[in-house]
Amino acid sequence: MIRAPRLDAAAVQPLLETRWLGRAWHWRGRTASTNDLARSLAERDAAAGTVVVADTQSRGRGRRGHAWRSPRGGLWLSVVLRPTTPAAELGPLGLAVAVAVAETVEALGTRQVELKWPNDVLVAGGKVAGILTEAAAEGGRVRHVVVGIGVNLNVTRFPPALCDRAASIHRELGVAVDRAAFAADLCRRLELWVDRFEREGAAPVLAAWRARGRLGPVTVVSATTTIEGVAIGLDADGALLVRRVDGVLEPVRSGEVV
Ligand code: BTN
Repeated sequence: MIRAPRLDAAAVQPLLETRWLGRAWHWRGRTASTNDLARSLAERDAAAGTVVVADTQSRGRGRRGHAWRSPRGGLWLSVVLRPTTPAAELGPLGLAVAVAVAETVEALGTRQVELKWPNDVLVAGGKVAGILTEAAAEGGRVRHVVVGIGVNLNVTRFPPALCDRAASIHRELGVAVDRAAFAADLCRRLELWVDRFEREGAAPVLAAWRARGRLGPVTVVSATTTIEGVAIGLDADGALLVRRVDGVLEPVRSGEVV
């Protein structure tokens, strides 16, 4: 088992190069889900940029109702955001977060960093990070967004069912990563991309995503349908454009590429 120094404010805040993200920092040794804790702080008026981080989660949540395995050594972190972008235009925010995570992972010297739509981060084909974005809106106005980021940093073992799909930075680099330095760099890049999205809209986010996006043959599963075809890119809203086997070009707005 990896013994990692705690990721509390004393460890991370001296390394932060941000204006607003991570200036309020909540660390827990163990919690059910950092997204749940961040949401309850957001509902009690926590400032934009408030971070919740835990060493382990007992009920970590993934997209589409999946459980998210959160052992010690990983980075399990949620951020409260309060974007001014209308709820209907918020789709690319998750892609912006994925770009920030991919850049942070790449800066460690990992090879072949790719994005799998909508926001999985892959290293050499294995998933190293996932993002769960949960928004609360009222009449088209966003009250808050909680962005949950899970990174398999110093995770060394996976259960057999995940072995051929999951990857970890430690296994990829052959050395343990400084979690506090990684968290601080991630906060810097997140702030940059969230600010850019708010200021300039979706275009720069989509361009950065496309530069790393993994396209080609896909099966996209959503709550109601399964679409098979070839992913050829993103549309202007961040939907995945899939050329179906019957030739129709379909923009896919929700679901998971399997
Ligand atoms: C996915 O790929 O399915 C998304 C995984 C998101 C996991 C992170 S870990 C921190 C935060 N807390 C959670 O319960 N989930 C997210």
